[in-house]
Amino acid sequence: MAITLTWTGHATWLIDTGAGVLLVDPFFDECPTTSMAAAAVDCAAILVTHGHFDHVADLVPIAKRTGARVFCNWEIAQWLGKQGVANTQPMNLGGTTAVPGGTARMETAWHSSSLPDGSYGGTAAGWLLHVGGVSVYVAGDTALFSDMARIGAAVKGGLDVAVLPIGDLFTMGPEDSLEAVRMLRPRIVLPSHHGTWPPITQDVQAWARRVAQETSAEPRPLQPGERIMVEVVRD
Ligand code: NI
Ligand code: MN
Repeated sequence: MAITLTWTGHATWLIDTGAGVLLVDPFFDECPTTSMAAAAVDCAAILVTHGHFDHVADLVPIAKRTGARVFCNWEIAQWLGKQGVANTQPMNLGGTTAVPGGTARMETAWHSSSLPDGSYGGTAAGWLLHVGGVSVYVAGDTALFSDMARIGAAVKGGLDVAVLPIGDLFTMGPEDSLEAVRMLRPRIVLPSHHGTWPPITQDVQAWARRVAQETSAEPRPLQPGERIMVEVVRD
């Protein structure tokens, strides 16, 4: 078994679990670096980390067009309901639910959250996925926090993939992401939330060299539109 993760730019990911594609944080048409038009996206479910525009900009039209269920916190589900998106799974931190290909647990994140119209967005979150036999932690927008050690340790057999923000300014930067890798101990680490605009542009190759030298994880920086296949390494 294997899953495929595609980075379309910024913090938007398509995770093909083999039983459907999970779309994380849809931000396409207003994203300067995106590889994809919102109208071209196909998915079986949508996972939202928080309400900021660079994570939900294309959420409503994609949810309406595809009919995909949206997994998000209670407040974002209420906001979606007012816009005619009824197929939601409202949840909150610490909760686990079934998604196409496996399960998703809404995890802690340290960040703010409000929706584009100013509505309260609830608490920002990350996602811990067990899909297609592979474990994937999508940190979302967050600062470094010491519970990352708990998240990594909770995954039986060890975490396969960590998707971490490295852009700095609005989230943790490269230096803190190295500490996050040491705590999570993933097999593979994918950088996110960088390069979209000048204030969050980082030397991603320098970051990758440091990950390789200073941690036990394999860094895999992607270009927008690039994908990585992750195979199951144990039963
Ligand atoms: Ni944010
Ligand atoms: Mn963001």
